[in-house]
Amino acid sequence: MTGLADLEDIGVDARRGGFSRHGYDLAELELRAWFTAEAQARGLAVECDRNGNLWAWWGAPGDGAVVTGSHLDSVPGGGAFDGPLGVVSALAAVDVLRGRGFTPGKPFAVVVFAEEEGGRFGVACLGSRLLAGAIEPAAALRLSDPDGVTLAEAMRSAGLDPARVGRDPEALKRIGTFVELHVEQGRGLVDLGVPVGVASSILAHGRWRVTVSGEGNHAGATLMVDRRDPMVAAAQVVLAVRRSALAVEGARATVGRLVPNPGGTNVIPSSVDLWLDARADDDARTRAVVAEIAAAAESAAAEEGCVVTMTEESYGDTVVFDPVLRDSLAGVLGGVPALPTGAGHDAGILAAHVPTAMLFVRNPTGISHAPAEFAEDADCAAGVTALADVLESLAR
Ligand code: GLV
Ligand code: MN
Ligand code: MN
Repeated sequence: MTGLADLEDIGVDARRGGFSRHGYDLAELELRAWFTAEAQARGLAVECDRNGNLWAWWGAPGDGAVVTGSHLDSVPGGGAFDGPLGVVSALAAVDVLRGRGFTPGKPFAVVVFAEEEGGRFGVACLGSRLLAGAIEPAAALRLSDPDGVTLAEAMRSAGLDPARVGRDPEALKRIGTFVELHVEQGRGLVDLGVPVGVASSILAHGRWRVTVSGEGNHAGATLMVDRRDPMVAAAQVVLAVRRSALAVEGARATVGRLVPNPGGTNVIPSSVDLWLDARADDDARTRAVVAEIAAAAESAAAEEGCVVTMTEESYGDTVVFDPVLRDSLAGVLGGVPALPTGAGHDAGILAAHVPTAMLFVRNPTGISHAPAEFAEDADCAAGVTALADVLESLAR
């Protein structure tokens, strides 16, 4: 798709495949510069808010705006569409609306939220969470990447002032309605045979850091019976994650990152960190899965002579998108289907504060957070037209 093609050389991850673009790293800064130039070329006035989110205003900024956009960062080794499709489509929708001779009757902005995936600092939707006051600024600024660089340091290097980070009621007041277009991350639209749909809900979901501590020692000199090996306990935790999620209908739980410390082939680790991502239909089910995993982790650690700690790093309850807005946008689009999603979004954070909706574009592979994520050009074009239609109806 035009626009996305401009980005295909930025943040290419030759080792993992796909793209690695994380909050305030070189690739993400390059993408932010690309967005700023594209918006300015359209005569939009670009500003960066206190929390690192970019806003491009069509006309004068003001309260109660119609806002659309998404994010430009990715997961490690992610696909080309998750995030950028929503940003590129937002700019393309402005072009379509102008081509129709339309001028917004109220303030109108395209937004790019910072560090949506949490791929660098661990907490997803960091920019929107900070803006909405859904995370303590001091706690956020202390978050650090795998190299030990804190969010505060990364923001400072990007020319932002960490002292200004935190709940931004002025920015929130400026959003009258938020619409995020996103590639679908499952097979809902493929199975229905339609290119575009609207979102109905997002699963409750959170992230937990699990640290198993044992005794670092020599891989050759330490008898099997003498070991307190945290990797063995961690392996039991991984199995418990799958078992516990399978026991609760609709639940999903994942260990996508596991780090042995110090991490040497001939070293029994002294500790292992792993991160649990758990999701389910509601709070009770999600909490039940996590409680089951915590109990299994305790007993696996005890059996191995290890100690385990489990810390919640972020959590969000089920989001049900504004049903009136959802139905009205589906109506504007001729009655497109409404689909739930298991993926988190900035729209999910904002939904607690302002009327919020999402449009999904069909993904023929059904795969996301991986290089095989895809959308056909024709479906992307249908997404842009749909976005322009709903924005026109909202901003008239
Ligand atoms: C973000 O895409 C998430 O669902 O974690
Ligand atoms: Mn994602
Ligand atoms: Mn996304």
